[in-house]
Amino acid sequence: MEFRVEKAGSDLMKTKPNENSLGFGQYMADHMFVMLYDESIGWHEATIKPYEDFSLDPAAMVLHYGQAIFEGLKAYRGNNDRIYLFRPTDNLKRMNVSAARMCMPEIPEDLVYSAMKELVALDKDWVPRAEGATLYIRPTMIASEAGLGVRPARQYIFFIINCPVGAYYPEGFNPVKIFVTDKYVRAVAGGVGNVKTAGNYAASIMAAVEAQKQGYTQVLWLDAIERRFIEEVGTMNIFFLIDDELITPPLTGSILPGITRDSVLRLTKDWGFKVSEKRITIDDVYSANEKGSLQEIFGTGTAAVISPVGELNYKGRVCSINNGTTGKLAQKLFDELQAIQSGHKKDPYGWVVEI
Ligand code: COI
Repeated sequence: MEFRVEKAGSDLMKTKPNENSLGFGQYMADHMFVMLYDESIGWHEATIKPYEDFSLDPAAMVLHYGQAIFEGLKAYRGNNDRIYLFRPTDNLKRMNVSAARMCMPEIPEDLVYSAMKELVALDKDWVPRAEGATLYIRPTMIASEAGLGVRPARQYIFFIINCPVGAYYPEGFNPVKIFVTDKYVRAVAGGVGNVKTAGNYAASIMAAVEAQKQGYTQVLWLDAIERRFIEEVGTMNIFFLIDDELITPPLTGSILPGITRDSVLRLTKDWGFKVSEKRITIDDVYSANEKGSLQEIFGTGTAAVISPVGELNYKGRVCSINNGTTGKLAQKLFDELQAIQSGHKKDPYGWVVEI
């Protein structure tokens, strides 16, 4: 299957926002990619076209039962206005894992990959030039069939929209304060926590809102069964540096296999760190802090890349990490990833693709 390209005329081209106050996900670029699915004909009508509203039947199944999956990756502007993507095919592979779990059709990875590159090339002026700003790419699939029976839909819309973004958290790369929740849980093995489906994010909002009311940026999620083992932080994977050992929870079914998580594991192993994917409890973290062996905590994700944690609050016990400052490893990872992602540093891993 091929895709068509309908370029926006000058009347449909939007004014670009100020690159120094982009926020996250507030402005959409001029074009989008859309492709339809029907059980009887498969994927069809693949088109890059001007950004526009959808028309959806109010009974569209995504609106009722939440068959919705998405991905997030970024385009970076490097030297000489070159544009790069970071590990894009890993996102598409993960999307198909999410699709299988949610009983949604697989996307044709090669076609979507070509369309994504062409879409970014067409909207290349939307890839920001400001330091740290990027074009966030959001591939999404929703169930569009109208009907209120609970079953897999027979019709879907897949689309890609792009938006220029700055830092994900208002704190930027500065350490965030995290509230450890033992009241809410994010996911349990056997559920859908290990795939990127919209409902996981909907379910997380109340915990985040309550944490924010108490002055915290996000929550630390504990496991759903014993409420002791650490799983994720906000919408990110989490890492601990304790006694020079870098620890992250293993992918045991309730944790999203982050692409930044995987990149951090790869880089730190190559730098000679002792790296362990193993279960760690919140009590382990507090006792390491008491002993003075807790060196750093940071989250990893596409949106924020690396997000240092400066403070935890668990049951009213406040623990300051690295005196609330960004740790050396978090800084080094952030610098290294940014340098690779924007083509400033040689990429020995084959992660970066130039458009
Ligand atoms: C990420 O860290 O990239 C995310 O998943 C956040 C996104 C939902 C905005």
